[in-house]
Amino acid sequence: MNDFTGNKNFNISSQTVSASCPSNIALIKYWGKYENQIPANPSISYTLINCKTNTSMEFVADEKFSVQTFLSGNEEKKFAEKIEKYFRNIEEFLPWILKGKYIIRTDNTFPHSSGIASSASGFGAIAKCLMELEQQFSGIQDCDFKLRKASFLARLGSGSACRSLYPGLVVWGTTKEVENSSDLYAVQYPNDEIHDVFKSFNDWVLLIHEGAKSVSSTVGHGLMNTHPYAERRFQEAHENFAVLKEILKNGDMPNFIKLVEHEALTLHAMMMMSDPAFILMKTGTLAVINKIWDFRKETGLPLFFTLDAGANVHLLFPADSDEDKIKEFIVKELLQHTQNNGVVKDVMKF
Ligand code: PMV
Repeated sequence: MNDFTGNKNFNISSQTVSASCPSNIALIKYWGKYENQIPANPSISYTLINCKTNTSMEFVADEKFSVQTFLSGNEEKKFAEKIEKYFRNIEEFLPWILKGKYIIRTDNTFPHSSGIASSASGFGAIAKCLMELEQQFSGIQDCDFKLRKASFLARLGSGSACRSLYPGLVVWGTTKEVENSSDLYAVQYPNDEIHDVFKSFNDWVLLIHEGAKSVSSTVGHGLMNTHPYAERRFQEAHENFAVLKEILKNGDMPNFIKLVEHEALTLHAMMMMSDPAFILMKTGTLAVINKIWDFRKETGLPLFFTLDAGANVHLLFPADSDEDKIKEFIVKELLQHTQNNGVVKDVMKF
């Protein structure tokens, strides 16, 4: 069942619901979109475990529609405006949504300025809360549908958020390589097509730069509309899915590393070739990348990186017998390139 139009027969009451949702880090990147948050190409990400948003949502029925938000206990009026707009946008899918007042409290388990996608975990948690309310008001029973609709709603808040609703490796965007993949919501990559070496991974995020980004993702996506290399990039993302599918099946670590780093550098290359051009990497980002490459050449150990739309570096390495040597190298050689010795340690296990 994929009809997300809301049921007009609902029965509202005052309720408080809560949900928790992790962030995610893309391996094949989503960069560029069409109207209504339709991605220009398919993407795949690891869902994190430790970095998450915990949200409670108090709904006061039959009060005038308004939204109040608190981030770590502090009132955030700008965020409330964003959520208000978002709720108005999704009324078609949740017809009761404007029929009350909301008090939303959220806490992130990771630093706000870390560049870890708090919009992904944040909108993921809000969408889950909304589906809890929807279940109570409209009586939906199907758990798979509830999750899929939460992913659909999260996407309308922040595209990549739709991937955070599922654990493990998650795909968003239609690709012939993944059955049932969709532009409208994310789906889990089939677990039995993933080699065990990819099921237990570290992601340590080096906080190279903790300030605000000079160019937002929204602006970056928009610049893809007139980008001279956009079509080729979208095509390449499709091609990379076919390559990645084989890699995941065979446990081919060297080619996994090559593909993931290529995707990260392509994302930033697209930024540099936008008009106007912009660069989100910092000196420390490049220093870390070069040190990772030297380390790999010298030791052959599988430490590699990916980047989000920011300067911070996600250090990826399998959780296995070599991980202690890699951790020692990170602490000794890479930590010095962070702003305040900042590193957020996460892990993906499924
Ligand atoms: O979901 P948005 O609009 O914040 O865009 C996220 C884009 C990247 O993080 C750079 C890539 C991705 O697929 O997550």
